[in-house]
Amino acid sequence: MLAWSLDSLVMSDNVVPPVRFRADVLAVPAYRQGATPTKPGYKLSSNENPFEPLPGVLDAIAQRSDINRYAAVAMPELRETIGAEFGVDGTHVHLAAGSVAILFQLVQAAAAAGDEYLHAWPSFEAYPSLGLASGAVASRVPLTPTAEHDLDAMADAITERTRVVLLCSPNNPTGPAIRRADFDRFMTRVPADTLVVLDEAYREFVTDPEAVRGEEVLRQHPNLVVLRTFSKAYGLAGLRIGYGVGDPAIFAAAASVAIPLSVTGIAESAARASLTPAARAAHAERVAALAERRDALAAALRELGLAIPQAQANFVWIPETGQAPGGVADALALAADFSEAGTLVRPFAGVGVRVSVGEPESVPVVIDIVRQHLAQR
Ligand SMILES: Cc1ncc(COP(=O)(O)O)c(C=O)c1O
Repeated sequence: MLAWSLDSLVMSDNVVPPVRFRADVLAVPAYRQGATPTKPGYKLSSNENPFEPLPGVLDAIAQRSDINRYAAVAMPELRETIGAEFGVDGTHVHLAAGSVAILFQLVQAAAAAGDEYLHAWPSFEAYPSLGLASGAVASRVPLTPTAEHDLDAMADAITERTRVVLLCSPNNPTGPAIRRADFDRFMTRVPADTLVVLDEAYREFVTDPEAVRGEEVLRQHPNLVVLRTFSKAYGLAGLRIGYGVGDPAIFAAAASVAIPLSVTGIAESAARASLTPAARAAHAERVAALAERRDALAAALRELGLAIPQAQANFVWIPETGQAPGGVADALALAADFSEAGTLVRPFAGVGVRVSVGEPESVPVVIDIVRQHLAQR
């Protein structure tokens, strides 16, 4: 698993534009979205939410008829509501068209050409290209054999040039969350003027009581930004709205490099509707159902002999171990079997396969496909 190269994630299109473009830009492959289904079946390739929109969300969207106007970007009510969860006011909340946009903003604002930003690997596929525009260099630290962040090695890897450290908890695509005690120890080793981003895109699904929780640590660290999103647990992936919580001065710098006017009024209304008491109640039930479904899926796959790492998000990770026990021989071959059966998953060549937790009926289908795949060996 540790030998996961970038090539295993994405392949360059090898197309040469008819105009002069930056060679460093052309050298970096673009982010590739999970596959789209071509036949009826389950789409378990993008960690999406299988539930319909939360109560009140579609109505709130329908009421936004003012789409001939730009949205008023301040969105104070939404920011206050989010801030309250972290014990801060709305000035500490930064909205963007997806939390991935904030990742780009922060790395661009903090790291100039030749500076470094640090992240674990394998982790979220967008991380390697975050420094592209600024010329910042990604420094990658392999996960541990149990697919967790190696925080001691990450602290050792911080140099004078490190401007940003990205922590992904739970880690996409492998699943484990960072433990609070490990996070606390790590933070004592990070220089106070180095930005740490705790990317908690899947935070709502975490059930491990020992996991770090952004709202519990934010106020202790002025150099910490916590990232969350409405895309996953709230099921608003298609509307593009995520947020960061942290020092307002950090977000003022991020705003300087942000694409203006990106958050739509429709997304704002959907997010606000997702945070009403009725929506929150439905949300809590759905998140609990997905976490239970995840645990059942992980347990069933472990019974097949697979070494599924701790799964704390809305997906499970099936490692590729070649002929060694505990994993599959070939991630791409397993993904091909899924695809043949009409179910899409996310393969990482030479590394493993990520399977999102989808509809209840998808669980036995996944288990069957994996069982049959293993039996063919
Ligand atoms: C770890 C992690 N961070 C951030 C994101 C970005 O989510 P969004 O831009 O939809 O908020 C994702 C999406 O898959 C993710 O897996």
